[in-house]
Amino acid sequence: MNPPNWTLERDADGIAWLTLDCAGASTNTLSEAVRAELASRLDELLNLPPSGLVIRSGKAAGFIAGADIGEFTAVRDAAAARALVQRGWDLMNRVAALPFPTLALIRGHCMGGGLELALACRYRVVVDEPGTRLALPEVMLGIVPGWGGMARLPQAVGAPAALDMMLTGRGVSARAASRMGLADECVAPRVMENAARTLLLSGRPRHRPSWRERLPGLWPWKELLVSAARRKVGARARPGHYPAPYAILDIWAHHDGNALAVPAGQPGSLEAIVGSATAANLVRVFFLQERLKGFGKEADFAPRRVHVVGAGIMGGDIAAWCALHGLTVTLQDQDITRIAPAIARAAEQFRRRHRGDARAVQAALDRLIPDPAGDGVRQADVVIEAIFEDLEAKRRLFAGIEPRLKPGAMLATNTSSLRLEDIATALREPGRLVGIHFFNPVAKMPLVEVVSSTTTDPATAARAAAFVRRVDKLPLPVKSAPGFLVNAVLAPYLEEAMRCVDDGIAPETVDEAALAFGMPMGPIELADTVGLDIAVAAGRQLAGVGAAAPRRLTALVQAGNLGRKSGRGFYSWADGKAQKGAPGAVPEGLAQRLVTPLLAAARRCVDEGVVADADLADAGVIFGTGFAPFTGGPLHYAAVAGDGGGHAGLAAQPVSPRQRAA
Ligand code: NAI
Repeated sequence: MNPPNWTLERDADGIAWLTLDCAGASTNTLSEAVRAELASRLDELLNLPPSGLVIRSGKAAGFIAGADIGEFTAVRDAAAARALVQRGWDLMNRVAALPFPTLALIRGHCMGGGLELALACRYRVVVDEPGTRLALPEVMLGIVPGWGGMARLPQAVGAPAALDMMLTGRGVSARAASRMGLADECVAPRVMENAARTLLLSGRPRHRPSWRERLPGLWPWKELLVSAARRKVGARARPGHYPAPYAILDIWAHHDGNALAVPAGQPGSLEAIVGSATAANLVRVFFLQERLKGFGKEADFAPRRVHVVGAGIMGGDIAAWCALHGLTVTLQDQDITRIAPAIARAAEQFRRRHRGDARAVQAALDRLIPDPAGDGVRQADVVIEAIFEDLEAKRRLFAGIEPRLKPGAMLATNTSSLRLEDIATALREPGRLVGIHFFNPVAKMPLVEVVSSTTTDPATAARAAAFVRRVDKLPLPVKSAPGFLVNAVLAPYLEEAMRCVDDGIAPETVDEAALAFGMPMGPIELADTVGLDIAVAAGRQLAGVGAAAPRRLTALVQAGNLGRKSGRGFYSWADGKAQKGAPGAVPEGLAQRLVTPLLAAARRCVDEGVVADADLADAGVIFGTGFAPFTGGPLHYAAVAGDGGGHAGLAAQPVSPRQRAA
């Protein structure tokens, strides 16, 4: 017999404590087996009703992470998907109908089905810790929260706040949950059991949102709220690409949050959602992300001190990011006046991130130490170089740093275009040099390429990946080759877009073609944002010095119009925004023309071993460039398009944790 997942204890007050500790797993998920066991525990409780029921987690990490996504991908057809939703919906309704008070004690993550279970309880107590987060992230997987969340979250916090959470998948902290009424109480860990016990037996009625929070969800304001939400979603996601947020709106507005009530055949039906290529591809992207995270687990490396050399755009922001994530960082540049602007920028970022928490802001600032003399090198576990892109300067710098390193410290360069092999010859131990290639802007881009040259020790690369995870980025192992993966696929795409402009197509029209394809930003706007001088340099590096750059690009750079940073490029820029006119009609085949060079470059990177396989190329291009996630990545997209655009539903996942484990 399998070990139980739930344990039920009764205390002297007659309270039943039902603890979930999924057997053989590090996190709790609501798999079919776990839900079936919960159902039989409910039978037991109904046979001998307690004075109240507390549902909690027995795991150190988190309450419940959600449904079991592996199980979800195994769903073969629409009828099975409907049955799965029905069983979860019925179970949550049973919890909600229990004839005694119920409470979810939430410590750590509480996601998806986990939050739906918590919402079915009368009360919620959250533990005030940084790891506590509550979310309904289904929309990010292209599906809808079908186990009652769409009905109960609006009842708990009012429709505007609930829609915001459900349509973005965004999580809220313990304190935010308590402020918005999602949690009844937010308490310190040491008093959590007592707080739960007292609230459970208090007889307090269930929390109801204030009339102000309820009003927008009532007729006639409801229709206004729905159209405002639809507009907001429309600005980020087109319905053809991402049907789930539109389905959530429809299910909330017209079916009381019950996904099962939408008749098959309608766009918001479970059949349409679960059978969509988008859901399959977003689940694929989820597993790709898990695979990238896995690279961070291959080495047992827990860095505490980081030394960054170069306090420019990249070095300054890398240092700030590391300090924000709890590392002690020394930041070196040629003199203190070059470090000061980076510290000022960091302070602004810390204030934004820790809004209202002056102590956390101060603590992050205290961890970021200006170090013009470079004294931090001696204590550093990781040294990251981000000085000018100049081989000799980098070689000199590394040769000076190496003798001062402590044993086992890692040396990394953020170079975009220099060969690691050439830098490494300046070192006595070339094996300890690795590339850690962050993208600009550091705070926004989730991917970091971990670059190995022929001389990089594989153990160093594994430790670099662990460091990247430590600062909550996604590591992608790549081989040292011009442009690595991301710039190698981005450069020909941007160049093709600029050639379209040379051919007389308006920049707005080129951008519109890419947006309609599903890119987060048009390539011309992106080139302006990156900087046209950088676009020229990247093109030269990848295409060879002799190749002619696009004509308009060359003219703009010669005139000193470098894009956003100089106020003028392909577009004029004001307040950080491109001043765009209306796009013209998009010519047939334009999007295809734009992405074809990108697909070819991605394929070439796989063939040349820059990345290990096509899935990793897809992961890198999605997380490094924002390439339309609903397509499942460029090579997946190309393969599906090559198959005649066919799609075989959720069962057709090329990447699943089980396959990986095999
Ligand atoms: P930057 O020009 O903004 O900053 C370079 C900084 O290094 C300057 O503050 C300079 O004073 C300092 N520096 C130069 N020599 C130094 C030395 N010997 N000791 C101490 N400090 C020194 O440059 P940026 O854009 O931050 O680029 C830095 C590196 O990051 C380059 O290798 C670049 O290829 C790479 N990179 C740049 C990206 C970008 O979008 N700007 C993206 C990814 C990588």
